[in-house]
Amino acid sequence: MTQQTNRHHATGAPADAADATAPGATQWWRDAVIYQVYPRSFADGNGDGMGDLPGIRTRLPYLKDLGVDAVWLSPFYSSPQADAGYDVADYRVIDPAFGTLADAEAVIRDAHGLGLRVIVDVVPNHCSDQHAWFRQALEEGPGSTLRDRFHFRKGRGENGELPPNDWESVFGGPAWTRVADGEWYLHLFAPEQPDFNWDSPAVQDEFRSILRFWLDLGVDGFRIDVAHGLVKAPGLPDMGRTDQLKLLGNQVLPFFDQDGVHQIYRSWRKVLDEYAGERIGVAEAWTPSADRTALYLRPDELHQAFNFHYLGTGWDAAALRAAIDDSLDAMRPVGAPTTWVLSNHDVVRHTTRLGGDVRRARAAALLMLALPGSAYVYQGEELGLPEVTDLPDEVRQDPAFFRGDGQDGLRDGCRVPIPWSGDTAPYGFGTGGSWLPQPPEWARLSVAAQTGDPASMLELYRTALRLRRSHPGLGAGDEVEWLDAPEGVLAFRRPGGFVCTVNTTPEPVRAPAHAGWRPLLSSGELRTVDDELILPADTAVWWEA
Ligand code: NOJ
Repeated sequence: MTQQTNRHHATGAPADAADATAPGATQWWRDAVIYQVYPRSFADGNGDGMGDLPGIRTRLPYLKDLGVDAVWLSPFYSSPQADAGYDVADYRVIDPAFGTLADAEAVIRDAHGLGLRVIVDVVPNHCSDQHAWFRQALEEGPGSTLRDRFHFRKGRGENGELPPNDWESVFGGPAWTRVADGEWYLHLFAPEQPDFNWDSPAVQDEFRSILRFWLDLGVDGFRIDVAHGLVKAPGLPDMGRTDQLKLLGNQVLPFFDQDGVHQIYRSWRKVLDEYAGERIGVAEAWTPSADRTALYLRPDELHQAFNFHYLGTGWDAAALRAAIDDSLDAMRPVGAPTTWVLSNHDVVRHTTRLGGDVRRARAAALLMLALPGSAYVYQGEELGLPEVTDLPDEVRQDPAFFRGDGQDGLRDGCRVPIPWSGDTAPYGFGTGGSWLPQPPEWARLSVAAQTGDPASMLELYRTALRLRRSHPGLGAGDEVEWLDAPEGVLAFRRPGGFVCTVNTTPEPVRAPAHAGWRPLLSSGELRTVDDELILPADTAVWWEA
């Protein structure tokens, strides 16, 4: 056991977290609210315009006060930043832009001191083309041991001038790039992100070792990037068509959601279980169905997966109800909690996605936080930040923006740094500007501007999270009891005398039968007309009932 392991076991677990080994220990992650910090855009400690670990450290009390249970940090590892850190050059080294290993340890220690768990990203599908193994693979040439850790192949065509198969990159263009000696290598994302070959025992061993490195440092779990992509179909067969990613929602692809990935997560689970303190694995798994996602969450695999099905559901009561039921039904056979996600660093912020009206975003937050399972909050959603849709081309950094034909390439609009305080940019984000420009309207959306304003989004989140904590049944279990409600309205009961109603229509409606119900929290103003309680348009209400 290393010195770090010893130290971790002594002080690693959050101050007010239950010991998993204690009798009756709770599985903290089942109903946890997990806040995603996107390090480059959260808080800048050294005034270089880029967020960093010291910045995050100073803002941990804000997260504690907000009322979340855990923090997920997107990558801060050594990286040329070809894909905002999802191109990792060294998994055990902090990128100088974000700080040092001591800074990472300090974040983990301080978070634990505040009772917050810490989840870090692990990126196992691919690394950076600057990773030592890939550089060495290029040097050693065809047939070398190091090339076997990636997918190197000869090209097709008379002189090998065509890619080895027809696979397309998620970011657009072919998923293959040719190197100087004529071989091609596979990259499902940018050319700067070569895919690992997970048939290689060296790759398997290396990642178990990387997991242990961070577990020894005290992290409470991992968000697993592209968890569905690690294993490719034997022989790398052609797809025989273009627009391949459009199929992802319907079928297993030769490069996504192959059954072989599960073996990897079984071996990772064993590593997680070696550690005290209920360390978890969270899959970023894009699969054809909730049932296929559930396979990643069998008892000997991972703990949670992002619910992208829910994220993709529009503001429509029937569709939301179906998505909620489907999600809960799919997880029941494997005994895993469902998760609820509205936004992250890859999608249009939901304030904008749901119609640009903050009312819907407010109602969506109360709906999400009333459901059983674990909820993810993406930094800035608690401020009601909209997507920034008018970033000038010259500041954009999303690699897909430069390649086209793949993902829309517009992910910078949800990554604009957070406004903390003040009337002028960078609004307390740091002292040296911000790597993406913040809109002038964000002065009124800052943490300082919203704090203490009962009508603000921030205070809505704070109150909702406080109530969620004081109603321990709210996130627990997997039962939602639907109540009769007019068309376009959701009404459901949760344990502990709690009801949530959501009017998704653009018109006010009479509240469903509510004799004896007492409003606890509402995302919009409730009115009484002729002794009838009226739910305004696009409004959710929590009731004690
Ligand atoms: C998913 C991450 O969330 C995204 O930001 C990244 O570009 C891809 N995986 C590739 O790592």
